[in-house]
This record gives sequence, structure tokens and C-alpha cells, in this order.
Amino acid sequence: MASATEAINKLLFIFLFLQQYSLLIMADDSVSVPVPADWPQQFHSVLFINRSGDLQKTDLWYDWPNGRNFNIIQHQLGVLKYDLEWDNGTSFYYTLEPFDKTCKIVHFEVGILRPNWLHGANYLGQEHVDNFLCNVWEKVDFISYYEDVLTRRPVKWIFSSSGMVAHVMTFEVGAVLEDKHWQAPVYCFGDAETQNKTSTSLLHSQDAFPGGSSHGILMR
Ligand SMILES: *[C@@H]1O[C@H](CO)[C@@H](O)[C@H](O)[C@H]1NC(C)=O
Ligand SMILES: *[C@@H]1O[C@H](CO)[C@@H](O)[C@H](O)[C@H]1NC(C)=O
Ligand SMILES: *[C@@H]1O[C@H](CO)[C@@H](O)[C@H](O)[C@H]1NC(C)=O
Repeated sequence: MASATEAINKLLFIFLFLQQYSLLIMADDSVSVPVPADWPQQFHSVLFINRSGDLQKTDLWYDWPNGRNFNIIQHQLGVLKYDLEWDNGTSFYYTLEPFDKTCKIVHFEVGILRPNWLHGANYLGQEHVDNFLCNVWEKVDFISYYEDVLTRRPVKWIFSSSGMVAHVMTFEVGAVLEDKHWQAPVYCFGDAETQNKTSTSLLHSQDAFPGGSSHGILMR
């Protein structure tokens, strides 16, 4: 008799275990909403940007281990602008010859984007964008972000405040711009115009280059 009870108990135990297990799987299924891939520690990307009809090509050099981010912005048939950003909060916005030698320094309270800056974005589902099937997220009042479902590379993003649209043309993971290029010109260190910004959610270069400039996604 004892062994029959034991057998029933064992079966009951197994049954309960399986039930729990399947509940866990179901629960897990229902919460597995896609999350955006972290940005690589270092990459180079060419972006085509449309800001209310003003077109620009931006070279984005993201370099998290060295605490720096560079946007080199070619306005269509226009000025080439440099937006050099350090994680200590200092950004240099300048132009070089043959354009006017200008420089503006802006101090921000926060530095460059963390690789996981998209954490916490709301998932909006899938959409065909620029000929790619994308997962779409939004960070409210800041950005809509489109990531290729297949490769998990970014395809496009849109800034909510300005409507600026960036299309990702290349995405070279691990590419690093040589140190010698991360040097603001000497006239940045004279009596260049300096500003302090206290924003915590920043569109850095949009602030610094009114009417122009890059995605400036420097928020945390
Ligand atoms: C740029 O965006 C504007 C809307 O802001 C649109 O009318 C125009 O067609 C776009 N240009 C290109 C080349 O995509
Ligand atoms: C931040 O770092 C850059 C590059 O090293 C430097 O030029 C700048 O003065 C620094 N800013 C501050 C506030 O220390
Ligand atoms: C910006 O902040 C620095 C350090 O906090 C200060 O020395 C400087 O005077 C400020 N500049 C402006 C333009 O407010």
C-alpha cells in the first residue's frame, strides 16, 4: 500500500512540476518583447540625414572605450562641419579651411551615449523601412529607432523634436578613427565662444549648429 501511495505522490509531483514548467514557458513567451541591440563599443557609420529638406551626409565615429564621439557633417553642396564630443561633457563644433575658421565649445552635463542608451525604449512592432523589415522602438519625446530584424543593425532613426531623419548607409563594427583626427583646431583654445548647457536629454549638435547638423544623439 505504501508503495502505491508513494507512486501516486511521485506522479502528482511530476504533474505539478510539468504544470509549473509550462506556466513558466508561457509567462516567458508573453514577455519576450524584442529589445534593441546595444551599440557596438566602436563603429563607423555613414548616415544620410534629411532635416526638413536640408540634406546632409554624416560620418559618425562612435568610440565608447575612449569616451568620444565624432560627427563629421557634409551639408549638401555646402559646409563641412565637425562635431567632436567628449564623455567629460565638452563638445567642440568647428569648421576648417577652406571654410571660415569657426569654433564653438559647449559644456554639457552629460557625456556621450552609452552603448545601452536604447534600454527601456517602447517596442512598437515591425515595419518595412528603407527596404528592410525592422523592429521599431520609441523613446518618448526623443527618438524612433528602426533596427533590421535579420542583422540587428540600425537602419534608420527619427528625432521627435526636429523630425530629422537619419538613414544608416554603412555600419562598420570595430572601425576606429585614428587618434590624430580627434583634435580640435588651435583656434578652439583661444577665446572661442563657450557655452554651458544644463540639459540632460540632449541633441547636442542640433543645439550647436542651428538649422544643420547631425543626429546629435547624446543623451543618457
Ligand atoms: C526630406 O524630407 C522632406 C520632409 O521634411 C520631404 O518633403 C523630402 O522629400 C525629403 N527629401 C528626401 C531627399 O528624402
Ligand atoms: C574634456 O576632454 C577634452 C579632450 O581631452 C579636453 O579638451 C577638454 O578640455 C575636457 N573638458 C573638461 C571640462 O575637462
Ligand atoms: C561654464 O562652467 C564653467 C565651470 O562650471 C565656468 O567656469 C564657466 O564660467 C561657465 N561658462 C559660462 C559661459 O557660463
